[in-house]
Amino acid sequence: MGRLDNKVAVITGAASGIGRATARKFAAEGASVVVADFDDVHGPEIANEINGLFVKVNVADEKSVVAMYDKTHEVFGGIDILFNNAGISPADDDSILTTGLDAWKRVQDVNLTSVYLCCRFGIPHLQARGGGSIINTASFVAVLGSATSQISYTASKGGVLAMSRELAMQFAREKIRVNALCPGSNCSRRTPSAPHAGSYTCPWGDSANPKRSRTRSCSSRVMRPHSSPRRRSWSTAGSRAPTSRRCSLHGSLFGIARTPPLSDDDLDGRRDRHGQ
Ligand SMILES: NC(=O)c1ccc[n+]([C@@H]2O[C@H](COP(=O)([O-])OP(=O)(O)OC[C@H]3O[C@@H](n4cnc5c(N)ncnc54)[C@H](O)[C@@H]3O)[C@@H](O)[C@H]2O)c1
Repeated sequence: MGRLDNKVAVITGAASGIGRATARKFAAEGASVVVADFDDVHGPEIANEINGLFVKVNVADEKSVVAMYDKTHEVFGGIDILFNNAGISPADDDSILTTGLDAWKRVQDVNLTSVYLCCRFGIPHLQARGGGSIINTASFVAVLGSATSQISYTASKGGVLAMSRELAMQFAREKIRVNALCPGSNCSRRTPSAPHAGSYTCPWGDSANPKRSRTRSCSSRVMRPHSSPRRRSWSTAGSRAPTSRRCSLHGSLFGIARTPPLSDDDLDGRRDRHGQ
């Protein structure tokens, strides 16, 4: 018996890297998985492999996100887990002194507005099921900053963290848990030349700018995408995990940084303090 038996999970960015590894793990735990991605070459491949459903989506586009959930509902009859994971970090997002408004906005759209859209249109599906779990992928840079600046990316991930805390507070009583994941450097298509990847051979070849990849992180170890889903944070998709936690997944810099579980008293206290 799997921990996610009878659960339906929508995973964005599931054609590659962390999302793909998570799709495999969730399927192995019994979930019906929707592989949601813009990439309609690798997406269908992973969906076939895990007996899931591929849905092509642009997470930065409102209509596309609504259509993704409609299709999921049509095929599986409901949704229990949203893993909002798709993200980009393009080369033209760099120092604040050189990053243009176009690059800034593109990264905000794909990394932050997407999480807003996926939560906004996904939460009603969880409410209809009487609860569920949301996992938003942020990054360690939201907490630490990046040794090599990627200003819009870091700001977008800070936004994901803050939004996750607020949603966790708002929806806790509806049995919807919201947690944010802060991975350290993973060897993936996004960071193909990430250093210190041990014996792992990156399937994506060399990055166009390996120096940038190498200096981006101040962490001394780089993880493999498939090692992340084995960490405790992935258990947040299960039914008894708490909400409003920030799970940091660093190779060696940190273990797992967590805020304590929230009791009803905590929630009341926080609402009182904020006059709600
Ligand atoms: N790899 C790392 O070191 C690292 C570290 C911290 C956080 N993260 C975050 O983890 C998440 C996954 O990263 P990854 O390294 O696995 O990346 P990846 O590039 O391997 O996978 C990202 C996936 O998102 C998809 N995608 C991109 N834009 C999209 C869009 N507009 N609509 C739909 N799909 C889109 C891509 O097609 C790709 O399949 C991202 O949010 C990233 O910011 C990664």
